[in-house]
Amino acid sequence: MEIAYYKDQFLTDVNEGVVPIQERGHQFGDGIYEVVRVYNKKPFMLEEHLDRFEQSAEAIALKLPYSRDELKEIIMEGIERSEEQNVDVYFQLTRGIAPRLHFYPDTQAVLSLVVKPSKPLAEDKKRDGVAVHVMDDERWSNCYIKSLNLLPNVMAKQAAFEKGCDEAILIRDEFVTEGSSSNLFVVKDGTLYTTPATRHILHGITRKAVFILAERLQIPMKEEHFTLEFLKDADEAFITSTTSEVLPIKKVDDVNLPTHLTITHRLQKEFKTLY
Ligand SMILES: Cc1ncc(COP(=O)(O)O)c(C=O)c1O
Repeated sequence: MEIAYYKDQFLTDVNEGVVPIQERGHQFGDGIYEVVRVYNKKPFMLEEHLDRFEQSAEAIALKLPYSRDELKEIIMEGIERSEEQNVDVYFQLTRGIAPRLHFYPDTQAVLSLVVKPSKPLAEDKKRDGVAVHVMDDERWSNCYIKSLNLLPNVMAKQAAFEKGCDEAILIRDEFVTEGSSSNLFVVKDGTLYTTPATRHILHGITRKAVFILAERLQIPMKEEHFTLEFLKDADEAFITSTTSEVLPIKKVDDVNLPTHLTITHRLQKEFKTLY
């Protein structure tokens, strides 16, 4: 069963809320969002997600309509209302409803939230990896903001899907940034590499979790820009996100990566100890 919340109340049906035409999230993508995974009724790294939510809100001058504790209460109530143990909580904040003009209107931000059962990834993909398709990163310069404007990400994901791949890997100015909905790691000679947390990538929470695990497992880590050639020459590579956790890459366009995934599998195993 899906649980939904819109503008100060829980709904009895996820399709009950009709979004007004002049809702700014709807018309301009004027808003931000988060996705939090819940394992056994416990939200994973919730504080980190709320930190990022607050940072995204501040970046677009959006005032949160609730205190952090109130927001947590709404999230926890949504989780409680679900009959499931393992769910994903999607919540978004938009600038509200106003006549369609580009300027920020004097409105109160509106929160919506949906709680859905988590979809487990196929075991063979988790073990052996997925194919990825490489594309130009055509997004804007503020990808650290978890904005509702996801059209370039949606287009990249669709192009990857049409090539029989699970993810698009994006290149900006000769360097790999991230996936269309994931961060990217490469293993080379026992060291983990990932793109630095600049404005050009989303500062993933799962990426952060991998930093914690790498330290714990004493795997050397470098935040460094790297090229597509470096990725194609990787010993191992994987993507990370809230919903895919740590997911190996087996193929980059036409190039097969090595199948010996020692470090990736160690990280996957250790990841489970975090929740
Ligand atoms: C563009 C992009 N990068 C990275 C990520 C991974 O972030 P997280 O680990 O916080 O889910 C996402 C998740 O949706 C994303 O959309």
